Amino acid sequence: MTARMRRSRIAAAIAATGIAMSGITLAALPASAAGATLHEAAAESGRYFGSAMAAHYLNNSQTTSILNREFNMITAENEMKMDAMQPQRGNFNWSSGDRIVNWALQNGKQVRGHALAWHSQQPGWMQSMEGPQLRQAMLDHVTQVATYYRGKIHSWDVVNEAFADGSSGARRNSNLQRTGDDWIEAAFRAARAADPQAKLCYNDYNTDNWDHAKTQAVYRMVRDFKQRGVPIDCVGFQAHFNSGNPVPNNYHVTLQNFADLGVDVQITELDIEGSGQSQAEQFDGVVQACLAVTRCTGITVWGVKDTDSWRSYGTPLLFDGNGNKKLAYHAVLDRLNSGGTPADPGDPGPGDPGPGDPGPGDPGPGTPSCTATYSEGEKWNDRFNGIVTIRADTNISSWTATVQLQWPQYVSATWNGSPTWPAERTMVMRPAGNGSLGAGQTTSFGFTVMHGGNWTWPQVSCAAS
Ligand code: XIL
Repeated sequence: MTARMRRSRIAAAIAATGIAMSGITLAALPASAAGATLHEAAAESGRYFGSAMAAHYLNNSQTTSILNREFNMITAENEMKMDAMQPQRGNFNWSSGDRIVNWALQNGKQVRGHALAWHSQQPGWMQSMEGPQLRQAMLDHVTQVATYYRGKIHSWDVVNEAFADGSSGARRNSNLQRTGDDWIEAAFRAARAADPQAKLCYNDYNTDNWDHAKTQAVYRMVRDFKQRGVPIDCVGFQAHFNSGNPVPNNYHVTLQNFADLGVDVQITELDIEGSGQSQAEQFDGVVQACLAVTRCTGITVWGVKDTDSWRSYGTPLLFDGNGNKKLAYHAVLDRLNSGGTPADPGDPGPGDPGPGDPGPGDPGPGTPSCTATYSEGEKWNDRFNGIVTIRADTNISSWTATVQLQWPQYVSATWNGSPTWPAERTMVMRPAGNGSLGAGQTTSFGFTVMHGGNWTWPQVSCAAS
């Protein structure tokens, strides 16, 4: 059964039983219809679900059994960083990384490699280096480590955290940055040469909110890399959230905008400080944002149990210290089971043609094409506003957008478009006036949904002529 068929069965089951698709009620579905674990539920839409793993997890059979049951992508929390891999110059120590990688591969998991080049957790000998010697040492490190693990890594964080926080949009000042602005692309080229199969990612934090200067700065770098053919395949969003740095409302806009550059996007180190329902809702928001973006191919949480977290005081994970599933776990599982746009990763390697890969369903060049993106508007107790942005991928003479609502939602108002209703809960929106748009131009329409307790975002799509 394909994921699509399974989703429509879930939808049919929901329609038959009248179970609301909001929040965390999907657990009431028969286990056979829905993924019973995080990675099974994520696989319904072609995505992976991962966790960080520290070496000490191997001493705790409860943790490894949760890890084995729930996750199918593993990131070494510290064991593959520069200080662990090359404690003395030219002297590599593979043992700590190997314990994690071997456990993962022996248990049928894939591995995210973390991280080849970073200003932090450098071995002492590297911390005191500068200039051309450091540049060479960094490139040697990238080459040696990526070569050693060649063929075993799904995605590498080639460069981690190279941009400054705050409003400057500048690179972070570090010994690596002081070797010259081109250190990042040099690291990517070395990684591609060493392991052409792995996806090569830039990974950072505080890049979730589209309006932030740091997000924009990373976006400009990735755009520049794609334009100049620097080998980059993916952008990792660490996603460490707390009350001072909450999940932004525009997260899916950020993910979509990066994806539109022709890279996969991945949530790489998710944890959210908090507890109870409010924590569960924030996790739900992150999963929803990823499910809305075709090239968001997977989510990794930064550890299994709260007590194992680097921020254990914030209880930021999906399992409590006793290994019990938290409310946030159920919110994530149910959201994954609710479907989402099927993931469509690009291929790594020099042959990647950029924005998506031409799949069977993709239009060729010159075929009129548009993309519809949903954004949240204002929310009230009984209703919420939705805004759909239509972007012309080519020159188009008109567009038609389809908005699919979920039971028991209905639309009470619309603006900037003329709607028709071919089926219950299906709204087809056409331009109110002339619908022609030049390639890259956008327009938008809006509507109000009476949600009846179901906050699930409408699914939107677009057709152009
Ligand atoms: C953290 C680990 O979780 C800690 O155990 C370690 O002491 C410090 O690093 N961004 C990253 C991760 O990319 O490597 C960091 O991991 C968390 C922030």
